[in-house]
Amino acid sequence: MDITGNTVFIPGATSGIGLALALALRERGNTVIVGGRRTELLEKIAAEHPGVETVRIDTTDPGSIQTAAKDVLARFPSLNVLITMAGVMRVEDWHRPESFLESAEGIITTNVLGPIRLIAAFVEHFQTRPDATIMTVSSGLAFAPLKVTPSYNASKAAIHMLSESLRLQLADTSVRVVELEPPSVQTDLLPGQADNDHAMPLDEYVAEVMSIIETQPDVREIQVERVKFLRYGEARGDYDQVVATLNATDPHAN
Ligand SMILES: NC(=O)c1ccc[n+]([C@@H]2O[C@H](COP(=O)([O-])OP(=O)(O)OC[C@H]3O[C@@H](n4cnc5c(N)ncnc54)[C@H](OP(=O)(O)O)[C@@H]3O)[C@@H](O)[C@H]2O)c1
Repeated sequence: MDITGNTVFIPGATSGIGLALALALRERGNTVIVGGRRTELLEKIAAEHPGVETVRIDTTDPGSIQTAAKDVLARFPSLNVLITMAGVMRVEDWHRPESFLESAEGIITTNVLGPIRLIAAFVEHFQTRPDATIMTVSSGLAFAPLKVTPSYNASKAAIHMLSESLRLQLADTSVRVVELEPPSVQTDLLPGQADNDHAMPLDEYVAEVMSIIETQPDVREIQVERVKFLRYGEARGDYDQVVATLNATDPHAN
């Protein structure tokens, strides 16, 4: 995608990577619409960043996705980029299924069904645009598992394969499919993660992402240097070592 001149909807941008990316894209001359459930944060973002638009959306609710999509397309008919950022991550102990099953179902609803329903709501409109981008958000954990978050890892592996498949199907259209593959980044995704020294500072992460978009507008997978350790373990042949290192260094791994 081009770094500037787009109209971008980011459901899941009231905090963390989504918000930082929204502000960086706005700074570079894009129209940006931020989405999420927390209305107090949406109001704060609108007040603090004039020109950044907001829409309330709960991506676990198909009705909310339909309403928000209709609203966004009516207000911004030039919309040409969707970033399916909304995601949740939770620790699970599979020795005791009763402790996590409902939570696991919620992870799959948010992280897999959410993007599928969002993309379905926008893909016809995008085919009418001369140049459109669907940016999915997977994770380094799509490629190497963190022991304590099985459903989350599985949800992100699903997003990787969804992205690969959609790219093939939509190759005959004006719609590009780009996958953002963050490493561990300092956000509030998990308790304590914002202070985790093993995670990448948020501003550094977004600066590197923006540089990749700017210098490689046709990139298919947005990989900062830090994620390549996880992303290419299997290809390099050191997958077992990658998995061992990941689970030894992450404070959530025990
Ligand atoms: N930080 C990392 O280390 C890391 C690594 C790899 C991938 N990722 C991915 O990056 C994405 C952003 O995560 P983050 O790290 O920036 O964490 P975050 O600060 O917790 O952001 C998560 C965002 O998702 C939104 N969200 C969650 N459930 C939603 C729902 N049902 N409907 C609408 N919005 C919802 C939240 O907004 P509301 O609560 O206001 O709804 C929030 O804006 C996620 O997909 C995550 O899996 C993060």
